[in-house]
Amino acid sequence: MVSGVPTARTLKGLRRATEVFREAGETLALVPTMGALHRGHLALVRLAKRRADRVVVSIFVNPAQFAPHEDFASYPRTFAADVAALGELGVDLVWAPSAQVMYPEGFATAVAPKGPALAGLEDAFRPHFFGGVATVVAKLFLQCLPDIAVFGEKDYQQLKVVTHMARDLDIPVRVIGGRTVREKDGLALSSRNAYLTPEQRAVAPTLYRVLQDCAAAIRRGRPVAETLARGRKAIAEPGFVLDYLEARHAETLAPIKAVKDGPIRLLVAAKIGTTRLIDNVGV
Ligand code: PAJ
Repeated sequence: MVSGVPTARTLKGLRRATEVFREAGETLALVPTMGALHRGHLALVRLAKRRADRVVVSIFVNPAQFAPHEDFASYPRTFAADVAALGELGVDLVWAPSAQVMYPEGFATAVAPKGPALAGLEDAFRPHFFGGVATVVAKLFLQCLPDIAVFGEKDYQQLKVVTHMARDLDIPVRVIGGRTVREKDGLALSSRNAYLTPEQRAVAPTLYRVLQDCAAAIRRGRPVAETLARGRKAIAEPGFVLDYLEARHAETLAPIKAVKDGPIRLLVAAKIGTTRLIDNVGV
């Protein structure tokens, strides 16, 4: 039997539920998601459960982080299955505001992140993206007032942006990163993997394989620039259109030329057909 998870859809309902936790002296973890939950999201929920007494999962497909030409309308929405999966994990509350609740008529304030949000990675290809993410995550933090919030390393630049944002805005939440959950062949789980044709799915693990090969070469002492040049070719070879393959400082995301200036994070984004995939690994 799957137990239902209480779902708050209004700020009043959310506040009432979270106040009960706080008044009982319980710590609260928030796991923000856009739904279409897979094992990657659920791993973050398990991590949250280990770190706090109560876990709130938000499900909100945030229109502010999609550009007009992107997949907001077609983004997978599987709310009933999501809530069932969260029930199995013993999640305490689902926060599922409508767009109207999140951005009521006359909404006129946004967070404009800099630093890691202007690193020249995702921001170079999705200029609207981190403004939309930082604004909604700031709102989610202030709505739920969690002690900790869990984000995936899968979206590495996003993890750094929200960590920076919480610190800069003095929001008293500890942001924790969870490891990337992968398919057996290495492909990072993503809600967008559902868009892949069988042929595209077959070549999709190339991204992780190349990241791993590059990380191993750099660890063996191969020059970073030359290693990345070889990696870029290997990604284009099976038909990916590469947005970037970069070596960056793991904390600041500043460009990095040598291991001694590290720790290094390798980050990649590439399109296969119309589907854009991202991934990253530590060196
Ligand atoms: P979404 O893409 O639904 O992802 C929710 C969280 O799950 C993010 O922190 C993301 O990094 C993490 N995640 C995704 N795939 C993962 C995987 N394979 N392994 C581990 N974690 C994974 O990211 C967003 O939503 C939104 O931008 C959001 C932060 C909710 C703001 O709208």
